[in-house]
Amino acid sequence: VAGTARASSGADRQLLSDLEDALGRRRVLTDPEVCAGYTRDWTGRYVGSAAAVVRPERVEQVQAVVEVAARHGAALICQGGNTGLVGGSVPRPAGALDQPQIVCGMSGMCAVEDVDPAGRLLCAGAGVTLSAAQAAAGRAGFHLGIDLSSRGSATLGGMAATNAGGMQMLRFGGMRARVAGIEAVLADGSIVSRLSGLAKDNVGWDPAALFVGSEGTLAVITRVMVRLEPLPAHRVTALVALASVDAALELLAGPVAALPSLEAAELTLEDGMRLVAGEFDLPPPVGLESGAAGRGGRAWLTLEAAGPYDPTAELAAAVDHPFVLGAAVASDANGRARLWAYRERHTEAVSRLGVPHKLDVSVTRSRLGELVGLLPERVAAAAPGARLVMWGHAADGNVHVNVVGPPPDDDGVDDAVLRLVAELGGSISAEHGVGVARRRWLRLVRSEGDLQLMARVKAALDPGGMLNPGVLEPLP
Ligand code: MLT
Ligand code: ZN
Repeated sequence: VAGTARASSGADRQLLSDLEDALGRRRVLTDPEVCAGYTRDWTGRYVGSAAAVVRPERVEQVQAVVEVAARHGAALICQGGNTGLVGGSVPRPAGALDQPQIVCGMSGMCAVEDVDPAGRLLCAGAGVTLSAAQAAAGRAGFHLGIDLSSRGSATLGGMAATNAGGMQMLRFGGMRARVAGIEAVLADGSIVSRLSGLAKDNVGWDPAALFVGSEGTLAVITRVMVRLEPLPAHRVTALVALASVDAALELLAGPVAALPSLEAAELTLEDGMRLVAGEFDLPPPVGLESGAAGRGGRAWLTLEAAGPYDPTAELAAAVDHPFVLGAAVASDANGRARLWAYRERHTEAVSRLGVPHKLDVSVTRSRLGELVGLLPERVAAAAPGARLVMWGHAADGNVHVNVVGPPPDDDGVDDAVLRLVAELGGSISAEHGVGVARRRWLRLVRSEGDLQLMARVKAALDPGGMLNPGVLEPLP
């Protein structure tokens, strides 16, 4: 049964008892109700089946899990906060693999082990949530330079494995830039540890560079060392309403992009703003009813600027544009959170409409207007009557395209959107990763040479195909 653990065969029973011997009973979960939280992604689109869920708390226990999985020819699916959107951190459906599946829940590895103010580094277990890491860094006067709406559940290990991006990427880079070191368990049980904290260390390959973004297919990440940034003395958020998407993109490409203090520049559109305000009973966002809307309806930029001086004046100057319908500004934590809610609650609001098709695409900033302009007609042609809600990290050329209407297993609209993106020279996954959801389209954006390189690295590190089988592999 999808979503429940199974212990039908003798081989499965032996696997469970070996896991219990290795980890202790309380770290091996088989109760179907408890396991359901690990075998189903939070959108409800991906539901799988696992023989067991294990919850190691130390690296030696991860080694023991890997050893048992190898002995049984089982698949190991690593899971952080289960906030992924491409089906890569939940098991595959029952019968999809010819090997039993074990979910390795990493949330027990939850200690922030070190905050080094001089080295500006934080080292933590892979299961530490982003918000716990942010709090620990904040107590020492720092922040992580990375932020996601799912901060309360997303873990550093999962963020590293998927090379998460988020809202501050334009200023500080994504996880690939934030990770300074890593510890991981390989499929043969050996440990690779590069946690020296050295700013310069040019002796050969960097394991973090290999494992960040490998989506659990090359190793189990057990510890992460991330870089820290000093907390700015001033931070201001502005929600700026514009008459059209074109006006928003024009501002973004010019004066806003030139702001030295800019930390975030997020784009939302009228349909999404009305949906969020309605679903969560928020007051109408600034500008919703003012002025005349242009082509494609009104658009909003959520801008955040921070630095050692008060950036309010330079932010106000940057958004001085004839098509601005209004702006709301806040520099206190509560006021800023109120403004961010309109942007951050899009994901939740769309999920309330049904199981969304979630595409996460990017193009160069010069082609962003073209992409946003073409998407409504392409989506309407592929899925007549479907509801399209778009938003994104506009400064990175990243648009989250959400389509509600077509059944979850009908990927016609996914195909139309991803082909359009490929035509525009863009990426089929800007920040969410490939998982199982984007396998079908890997060849649109990766050459045979690229794919062979990936397959060779995979075969060298995981010859038995234990780690997250299927993920990051093109469909035949
Ligand atoms: C976001 O930026 O909102 C996240 O990537 C989540 C999503 O796309 O729903
Ligand atoms: Zn995003």
